[in-house]
Amino acid sequence: MNLSRKGLSISPSATLAIDSKAKKLKAEGIDVVGFGAGEPDFDTPVHIKQAAIAAIEAGFTKYTPASGTMTLKEAICAKFKKDNGLDYAPANIVISNGAKHSLVNVFQAICNPGDEVIIPAPFWVSYPEMVKLADGVPVIVYTTEEQGFKFTVDQIRQAVTAKTKAIILNSPSNPTGMVYTREELAELAELAVEKGFYVVSDEIYEKLIYDGKTHVSIASINEKIKAQTIIVNGVSKTYAMTGWRIGYTASTPEIAKIMSNVQSHATSNPNSIAQKAAEAAISGPQDMVATMVAAFASRRDYMVKRINSMPGLSCVNPNGAFYVMMNISQLMGKELAGLKIQSSDDFANVLLEKANVALVPGSGFGIDTHVRLSYATSQENITKGLDRIEQFLKQG
Ligand SMILES: Cc1ncc(COP(=O)(O)O)c(C=O)c1O
Repeated sequence: MNLSRKGLSISPSATLAIDSKAKKLKAEGIDVVGFGAGEPDFDTPVHIKQAAIAAIEAGFTKYTPASGTMTLKEAICAKFKKDNGLDYAPANIVISNGAKHSLVNVFQAICNPGDEVIIPAPFWVSYPEMVKLADGVPVIVYTTEEQGFKFTVDQIRQAVTAKTKAIILNSPSNPTGMVYTREELAELAELAVEKGFYVVSDEIYEKLIYDGKTHVSIASINEKIKAQTIIVNGVSKTYAMTGWRIGYTASTPEIAKIMSNVQSHATSNPNSIAQKAAEAAISGPQDMVATMVAAFASRRDYMVKRINSMPGLSCVNPNGAFYVMMNISQLMGKELAGLKIQSSDDFANVLLEKANVALVPGSGFGIDTHVRLSYATSQENITKGLDRIEQFLKQG
């Protein structure tokens, strides 16, 4: 029998192959250093856990409205006002099972078959597949390390067609860590308003930002672009809550209604207990975020310095998130441990097999000359992993 053509067209997560290989080696008792983590290595703060325990004890264990509780929506609106200078009402907010789910809802709500969504590369692996799931067409705009992995508005202008429905903006970015300035965002906003397309602004790494940089939400540039922006955010990265699965969007009430309807049939409400925990996270003390950011910044400094001191490797300094894109283009065509390196997958595989270091090939992010290392792991692991990479490259 025929299976769904759309389902069949969806690629498995690009990070999966190397990850399952690393897990297999670990299960065999091999000491693998992992740089693949997409989540903080910190524990969820105690006051957040306590809010969840209190929710269970109070019997807050039933269905909530499909798009989330009123109290969490109000807490999210207060956060938008305080952090981003944005006025939203609960009718603008939809709470989902993680920012990933929020993004899937967004494309379900805005795409018709054949609508184009511009995705700047390097991109987070899930974006193109999410667009395809909504019958949209991903249009990739490639950026280079020389341009700081940031698109220029001219590049976007050239990619716009009559079918352009949206662009995905991810600042700070996974995988590059790049952060767009207010001026750069203002230029994009002007183009989006002129041409009439949405900006899907994934701000999940908003708080993980360094070097005195500040996060600007493109929706805060002016009211026109606010009406065309759908902000996606969540508690996973900021509060070390990846397993709790709470994300949210801010959009026009019209788009929020569609997403809420879609969600009401797909998943119903996000977990009631996790919603209470998210409320405590967003409304409660924020000191743990600063502690985490300070640790990430110091690990990043170390990682960037070490990589740039190794022959054949280099990287640019990322200003946000917790990833470094390591440039391996000088190793292309060379032999390492008897294998000719012809792609980021080749490098990741040989490094895992011969040096027991797991990192993520850039191929899945739309850039085959780089690999991604996460510094959301202990300083001890980072030192050990980089020592191994250095030793491995010395041996050739
Ligand atoms: C850029 C980006 N957006 C969204 C997400 C999804 O986060 P969540 O855990 O809230 O689904 C991730 C997680 O890796 C991400 O890197």
